[in-house]
Amino acid sequence: MAEKIKVLLKEEEVLARVKELGEQISKDYAGEEVHIICILKGAVFMATELAKRITVPVSLDFMSVSSYQGTTSTGAVKIIKDLDHIIEGKNVIVVEDIIDTGRTLDYLIKMLRNRKPKSIRLCTLLDKPDRRVVDVDVDYVGFEIPDEFVVGFGLDYDQKYRNLPFIGVVEFS
Ligand code: IMP
Ligand code: MG
Repeated sequence: MAEKIKVLLKEEEVLARVKELGEQISKDYAGEEVHIICILKGAVFMATELAKRITVPVSLDFMSVSSYQGTTSTGAVKIIKDLDHIIEGKNVIVVEDIIDTGRTLDYLIKMLRNRKPKSIRLCTLLDKPDRRVVDVDVDYVGFEIPDEFVVGFGLDYDQKYRNLPFIGVVEFS
C-alpha cells in the first residue's frame, strides 16, 4: 500500500484528447461504419469514451488476451475471450489502453487480419515509444508518454486504480 500516484494527465486533458480522436475518426470514416474492438480490461474506459465521440455508426465488441509470459517470449498471446461477432468486411478499429513493447498488438493485429476485415486500424490512449520491441503501426495515439508505470482511465497496477479519472504515475516507495 506504499505507492503514491502523481498526476501525469488531468481528466480534462484526457477527455479533450479523446474527443479530438473521435472527431478525427468520424472524418476519416465519413459515410462508413466502424466496428470497435476493445481489448479488456484496460481499454474499456477509453473505448466507451471514444465511441461516444464518434458520429458515424459504431458497433462494439470485446476481446480479452493474456500478455506474453516470461522473458523468453515468442510474442504469442493467448485469447481468453474471443470476439462475439465476425469482423469480415468491417472497418475494424482495435482500441488499446497502452502500447509498451508492442508484442500484444503485433500478434493480435496479424491474427485479426486473417479474419478478412474490410480495414483494420489501431487506436491507443497511451504510447510508450521508448519501450518498443516490435514495430506496430498505430493510427491514432492519444498521448506519447515517457517510460514510467502509469495507472488510471482503465490502466491498473495489480488490478487497482483503473477507476481513477486521470492518468497518474505510480511512485513506488
Ligand atoms: P505490450 O505492448 O505487448 O508490451 O503490452 C502492453 C500491455 O502491458 C498493456 O495492454 C498493459 O496491459 C500493460 N502495460 C504496459 N505498460 C503499462 C503501464 O504503464 N501501466 C499499466 N499497464 C501497462
Ligand atoms: Mg492491455
